[in-house]
Amino acid sequence: MKKVTFRYLSQEDILKVRISYEQIIDTIEKTMAAKGRDMVECPPKPGIHTRHDTFIHAMPAFVKDRDICGMKWVCGYPENYKYDLPQIAGLIVYNSPETGMPLAVMDCRWVTAVRTAAVSAVTTKYCKPKNTKVLTIIGAGVQGRFHAIMLKIVAPEIEKIFVSDIKPGAAEQLAEDMKGIIDAEIIPTTDVETAVKAADIVLTATQRVPEPIIHFDWIQPGTLGLALEASRAWDGKSILGADKYITDDWDLTVSYKAQGAFPDGLPKNHNTLGKIVIGEEPGREHDEDFILAINEGMAISDIALAADLYEAACEQNIGIELPLMEQESIF
Ligand SMILES: NC(=O)c1ccc[n+]([C@@H]2O[C@H](COP(=O)([O-])OP(=O)(O)OC[C@H]3O[C@@H](n4cnc5c(N)ncnc54)[C@H](O)[C@@H]3O)[C@@H](O)[C@H]2O)c1
Repeated sequence: MKKVTFRYLSQEDILKVRISYEQIIDTIEKTMAAKGRDMVECPPKPGIHTRHDTFIHAMPAFVKDRDICGMKWVCGYPENYKYDLPQIAGLIVYNSPETGMPLAVMDCRWVTAVRTAAVSAVTTKYCKPKNTKVLTIIGAGVQGRFHAIMLKIVAPEIEKIFVSDIKPGAAEQLAEDMKGIIDAEIIPTTDVETAVKAADIVLTATQRVPEPIIHFDWIQPGTLGLALEASRAWDGKSILGADKYITDDWDLTVSYKAQGAFPDGLPKNHNTLGKIVIGEEPGREHDEDFILAINEGMAISDIALAADLYEAACEQNIGIELPLMEQESIF
């Protein structure tokens, strides 16, 4: 038996691998198209819940048309700031589709951050309002930052970004961090209602909120809503009253409902992002439509970016090669 090794990529190794935001959005768009063509195996996430309102999810995926596979093992612990640790963290194991052998083990935090914003960017590309001048971001954390960058790539016409956060100073810090990165006026605000009413696109990227923070009667015709917290941040009327409801994965949406999300029920009709990308279902059809996208986060997106990272890391010789096994006998 030959010696088996795998490449280990820490978060800092991953940050050294240069993958542009444009490439990330392109990879995610192609991956959503694979989902639209039913060319993926991506079962709803099994998980364990070791503390109230926490999860550790197993997220396996096979993207058939690209012949890539692997699994993300990711945790979400909203109270982790008390331990000076991030809310979202974990590992990706990237496997050979031919032999099943692990080819790489890598940190999953950057991949999770950028792939989530890229799924929203693809949604925005197909569903943005006709005149997208104002973006409102509620939640000035990791996702708030990456969404500001990626939404501006697919909607360069954005001129103003309102940012709100319950943590004092967080919105101001985002505005400071984005100086020189984003060509738009970034305005911190505590007035969520006014910022939502003024917006063409509204993003909620908060933590697990006890009560909805966005109300249906604040939403103007033509708005695109992007919600990252499953059903929690938007009221039931917004979810059931949207003219178009979009998700990356309906099976995952239904599995979240079974776990207590969507307390007011699921929308009667939905569109799948992948079907929109391949043209089987329409994106935005009417200027006045309120479109709400709750993309639940699919493992195919993680594995597609893990594949891009692995290929680039091998080419650039980044990361370390670790032994997995060296001999046949295990006695
Ligand atoms: N759907 C997906 O694919 C996907 C993927 C990754 C993360 N997420 C979710 O996205 C959300 C944001 O993740 P993150 O990594 O940016 O987290 P983060 O902790 O970096 O940022 C969250 C921010 O929201 C703020 N916040 C919390 N409650 C708020 C409220 N009621 N009003 C305004 N601001 C509030 C916090 O102060 C914090 O600054 C989380 O809920 C996470 O679970 C979803």
